[in-house]
Amino acid sequence: MNEVTQAIADFIARETGLSVGEGHRLIEIPRDPQWGDYAFPCFSLAKVKRKSPQTLAGEIALRFKPEGLLASCLSDGAYLNFRIHRPAWAEMVLRRIFSLGERYGESQEGVAKRILIEFSSPNIAKPFHVGHLRSTIIGHSLCRIFEKGGYEVVRLNHLGDWGKQFGEVITAFKHWGDPAQLEAQPLKHLLEVYSRFHSESKRDEILHEEAREWFRKLEGGETEARTLWEGFRKISIEEFKRLYSFLSITFDSYDGESFYRDRTAALVERLRKAGLLVESQGAWVIPLEAFGMPPALILKKDEATLYLTRDIAAAEYRFQKWNFEKLIYVVGIPQRLHFQQLFKVLELMGYEWSQRLVHVDFGHVLGMSTRRGEVVFLRDVIDEAVQRAERVIEERGEDKEARIGKIPEEQKKHIARAVGLGAIIFNDLRTKRSKDVEFDWDRILAFEGATGPYCQNGHVRCCGIMRKHSGEITEKVDFQILCSDEEFDLIKRLGQLPRIIERALVEYEPSVIAVYTLELAMSFNVFLARYRVLGDEKRITQARVLLTHCVKEVLATCLRMLGMEALERM
Ligand code: ARG
Repeated sequence: MNEVTQAIADFIARETGLSVGEGHRLIEIPRDPQWGDYAFPCFSLAKVKRKSPQTLAGEIALRFKPEGLLASCLSDGAYLNFRIHRPAWAEMVLRRIFSLGERYGESQEGVAKRILIEFSSPNIAKPFHVGHLRSTIIGHSLCRIFEKGGYEVVRLNHLGDWGKQFGEVITAFKHWGDPAQLEAQPLKHLLEVYSRFHSESKRDEILHEEAREWFRKLEGGETEARTLWEGFRKISIEEFKRLYSFLSITFDSYDGESFYRDRTAALVERLRKAGLLVESQGAWVIPLEAFGMPPALILKKDEATLYLTRDIAAAEYRFQKWNFEKLIYVVGIPQRLHFQQLFKVLELMGYEWSQRLVHVDFGHVLGMSTRRGEVVFLRDVIDEAVQRAERVIEERGEDKEARIGKIPEEQKKHIARAVGLGAIIFNDLRTKRSKDVEFDWDRILAFEGATGPYCQNGHVRCCGIMRKHSGEITEKVDFQILCSDEEFDLIKRLGQLPRIIERALVEYEPSVIAVYTLELAMSFNVFLARYRVLGDEKRITQARVLLTHCVKEVLATCLRMLGMEALERM
């Protein structure tokens, strides 16, 4: 709700008796701004009033008088089309942004509410694949959006650091491992020996036997097994942390699957007592047929616990520890059934808070194949992005100084990194998360089109103008000046930010912010193609400088919510 839609809903309520809330819900933004800034369809109201919607719309329109933010109301068929009083809205929006700066768009919605967001969650010794990359990007952005909404956000990384594959990893390491390489590149080295285990064990059954033995030792707490595993874990987390810090991501907890392994025995006992467990071919399951799902496997024949069991224990622990408003799992679509089962089991256990769990799922990434198939080494992707961005900036950079080499080498590197990462992030976030994402280096780094660099460039253009502007920025401008279609289109968009953030929050959908950012940057470029900000009469310049300043603030806010850097030059 903003002041304009509020005014429209009030007017409708006054004239027809419809409740303000309902009226507000019905307001639309017309597809073509030529029709009006907002529209109100009269269909449902007409039913109540037993009139044709056309007649009703005509009658209401006749009673309209311009007032405050509303300039006009015309009926068109069954619709009422409203126009905003441009200078009044320009003044309200721009003054608000001017005074709040980057705090514009923040809300009180989440105050005193705690949200747990679990994302990234790679597995030690198994490949970090593109799914983990998407989870990282989407999760990180959701954290920032929720923080903007006033929530306290706790970032969780549910590391895959337990399971019988660790018996295989230890076996592999004992045979082919090299402590020096482990030290230098732990993720790569562990993956290498682990992959070797897979190829060699096809021929050599003994290896499997060894692996089972190591995992038994590990579970039993035997010293050597435990020390090796702890070493793998510690050194891998350190490397993950270095990679995350490239992306400015931190986690509040790396408690992964191993952390919950000791809690599963008591959990299984409780499930048994509650009468939820049923024996099935030697294993223990919770039947979920009644809910259209296959049974949840809780305990295997050999008494080993499972991924799902550990997830149940994790949810219980997290609720006790954090008493969350929501617990969000950012994990790909292939695990949908897993989370449906998890949530259902928790519900059957009688936890009212099972309703607060959300699986934020997402589709695949197509085309980001490397020599290793679906596996991505985050480091390789980052390096490649930066190198490519360097080249693109040299060729295409908006900022001429960058091209003629006036920007110090250090700063250029920084810019290339931000642009390269921005390209990857934006490409991921611009599509609805449940859709697949296509990945193509040349396209995502282009300066034109729906790309990260394009959006960052919008911010850079604002900064360039502000650098050239010698006078002050003031909010005391003549708002009548900012009334062209192009300028008002920008102002309307700026005014939408709070609603946009609200939608992104309700739908757990960073793409809402990404699309908004892109459209705002496009609208700003349309404006710049038609008008000059600087060098006109003073009062005109002052008004457009204020507008540019506000566009810059909002673009910066949005880029940060996406997890991208708002660069001043590129
Ligand atoms: N480590 C898992 C994987 O790579 C993702 C973990 C998802 N989170 C969870 N609580 N199950 O597939």
